[in-house]
Amino acid sequence: MPDNRYVVVEGVIGVGKTSLAKLLSERLQARLVLEEVEENPFLKDFYRDRARFAFQTQMHFLFSRYQQQRSLRQLELFSERMVSDYLFSKDRIFASLNLTDRELALYEKLVGWLELEVMKPDVVVYLQASPDMLMERIAKRGRPFERDMERDYIRQLNEAYNHFFFHYVEAPLLVVNERDRLREPPRGLRGPDETDPVPPPGHRVLRSDRERAHAMKGESAVGAARGPRAKITAPGIVEMKRRGELITCVTAYDFPTARIADQAGIEILLVGDSVGPVVLGYESTLPVTVEDMCHHTRAVARAKSGALVVADMPFMSYQASVEDAIRNAGRLVQEGGADAVKLEGGERVIDSVRRLVESGIPVMGHLGLTPQSVLAFGGYKVQARGEADQERLMREARSLEVAGCFALVLEGIPAKLGADVSRALTIPTIGIGAGVGCDGQVLVSHDLLGLFFGHTPKFVRRYAELGDAMRAAYERFAADVKARRFPDEQESY
Ligand code: KIV
Repeated sequence: MPDNRYVVVEGVIGVGKTSLAKLLSERLQARLVLEEVEENPFLKDFYRDRARFAFQTQMHFLFSRYQQQRSLRQLELFSERMVSDYLFSKDRIFASLNLTDRELALYEKLVGWLELEVMKPDVVVYLQASPDMLMERIAKRGRPFERDMERDYIRQLNEAYNHFFFHYVEAPLLVVNERDRLREPPRGLRGPDETDPVPPPGHRVLRSDRERAHAMKGESAVGAARGPRAKITAPGIVEMKRRGELITCVTAYDFPTARIADQAGIEILLVGDSVGPVVLGYESTLPVTVEDMCHHTRAVARAKSGALVVADMPFMSYQASVEDAIRNAGRLVQEGGADAVKLEGGERVIDSVRRLVESGIPVMGHLGLTPQSVLAFGGYKVQARGEADQERLMREARSLEVAGCFALVLEGIPAKLGADVSRALTIPTIGIGAGVGCDGQVLVSHDLLGLFFGHTPKFVRRYAELGDAMRAAYERFAADVKARRFPDEQESY
């Protein structure tokens, strides 16, 4: 359906999505599609006893939404314009909030199939309001089946909606906060975190006017971080996800790069074992040693950055035993000055992750295309394309979170899987070739600066051509020396 023919309005119960959908459908002369909430015979019981009636309520909603969505396909054939007050995939928000793990596993299997047949909207308008405002409106409309709804449930729902839409990448998203609409100071709100608009998950997001005005004034989060800033910690990185802030990470292997990236406001400096191919001229990361990593981590740590410094554990420094992992991670922290370590793999590193975290060392996980397994993979190939591999990756991501990782790098996997994992975890995912739905992005500095000579993967965006700039500078220097133009009088004693 071309040019925004299918518009969806979403938001937590009580936010006013049905009213806005009605208004829009009149303005756009579009068919109005409303959710049939009151038809659910379990809903009243659910608000009284959530644990007991969650599954029945969820299943009823899932099937009635699915039936309704299937009938919309007919309208699409006639290319009729539509405005709806719900998004089919929001069903997942309620499922993750209310179902037990076993129920959720069953639900996930089912919903995955159903979603394949459901139309995707052309644009989604996400309305936000504070829990207090929502409670006020729910009380005002006085629906009998909503009478037992608790404020805490609304607060949880609010957070779950923000989390969901923060990772929503299937259609352009317009986020409208109650404060944008009222144009007056918020009344009786509890705190800024309860009403903060969800920041855009990527360039496909349409922003509210207020956010756009900020962007035009050049007040980007990165630019704002030029001055000295408080040290970012591992829990601070987790907190960023909770607040809905996207996380930036670049690799750094030396003092000047660390300083400059820190001044630019980057939140995580990763002393990657990519130092091997990028700086030391190796063909892969495999020859990199703990000594190499300590040496480069020390150089980065000397920059005393506000950014969190994460050091990669190199190949064979943790694979053989938990004891190796503890000893070598300890060296990276004690001798190198790292704030955290990163290691690659899922189930096979879980014990090491748990022990490291217990020892007080924050750990970042790494799944997908893990370069230390290049020999086993048979090359640098996109991972987890098949269903079984995707399920395994999701399982391993959850295990790493439970074991205590504060963040997880996802490398070289399909974008949809990157978004799904990010939605499923409360710790942030940092993507590299894992799509825009991750909670943050990492690039190898030399790739983004145009300083690398090898193959450049598709996911790299070059923000500068420093290689060309350096070559030109060296050529000018050489020409000046050969022509005795350098040094001149000013440059001599
Ligand atoms: O070593 C490295 O640079 C990395 C990033 C690519 C995530 O692990």
